[in-house]
Amino acid sequence: MADAVYVTRPLPDPGTEPLVAAGLVVDQHRADAPPSRPELLAGVADASALLCLLTDRVDAEVLDAAPRLQIVANLAVGFDNVDVAAATERGVVVTNTPDVLTEATADLTWALLLAAARRVGEGERLVRAGHWDGWSPTQLVGLPVAGRTLGIVGLGKIGSAVARRARGFAMTVLYRNRRPLGPAVEEELGVRGVGLDELLERSDIVSLHAPLNDESRHLIDAAALARMRSSAILVNTARGPLVDEAALVDALRGGTIAGAGLDVFEREPALAAGLAACENAVLVPHLGSATTAARGAMVRLACANIVDVLAGRRPPTPVNPEVLDRS
Ligand code: GLV
Repeated sequence: MADAVYVTRPLPDPGTEPLVAAGLVVDQHRADAPPSRPELLAGVADASALLCLLTDRVDAEVLDAAPRLQIVANLAVGFDNVDVAAATERGVVVTNTPDVLTEATADLTWALLLAAARRVGEGERLVRAGHWDGWSPTQLVGLPVAGRTLGIVGLGKIGSAVARRARGFAMTVLYRNRRPLGPAVEEELGVRGVGLDELLERSDIVSLHAPLNDESRHLIDAAALARMRSSAILVNTARGPLVDEAALVDALRGGTIAGAGLDVFEREPALAAGLAACENAVLVPHLGSATTAARGAMVRLACANIVDVLAGRRPPTPVNPEVLDRS
């Protein structure tokens, strides 16, 4: 009997074609809204592979409902939605989609950084509402970006791509990593490692690129925001729960910081009370990887991971390779 793959959403091109071409049977949730919990549990019941999104919680209950499951292929670079330890215990491979979305996410980070610093959202709303009375030297004056200091929290692949773009803006780039990079990499990227407190105190723009885990949840809380400059901008294209969103609303309202550019939120798609009313926040709906090229490459990589695991081959991007090394 051919292996079955449960796919939790409609996918952009190439869709499920690589799975079908490999002779797999595809069972696909047809709505853009996530499957309900009972639908997800029923969907995986006979599945050898699960292709899921960051909005699908894949925990021990889901894994236990899927006795034939060999692989969870997450269509995202982040995999905080998957209980990797529970999958590893059960011998299930977990894969993600790194690299292919790095440049797209770095581009969006810069879009938010510039939009928040130069008050693009406020200006756009003003013009669209027909409230613009003409040029004025005092209108919507923002923060300069070129030549300023950028602080990157989490200098992995995406953080590094953001740092490379900062060169064109002649910025000083500080970073904070749990494990600092070596001097050769620091020199190549033109960055300097500092502690989180120093980064927050010295940066004009703070951009978050750390993975979400128990250590990084609410890394940016009220105390961290208080360390930032009152003229500073916070950008988050990583994961919403890195920031205490209620504390951020207070900071944006009270002038603790000047603005924010957010692609991700603590309880997506809901926003913390008061955030939508903060004129000094630029808010977009988790668009980091949303280019045709990146999304297509993510689908191809997730499918390649599934096809390889089900064929007994090593997949390109496992996050728990110890499962493969064991077998
Ligand atoms: C998107 O948020 C991703 O992790 O790919």
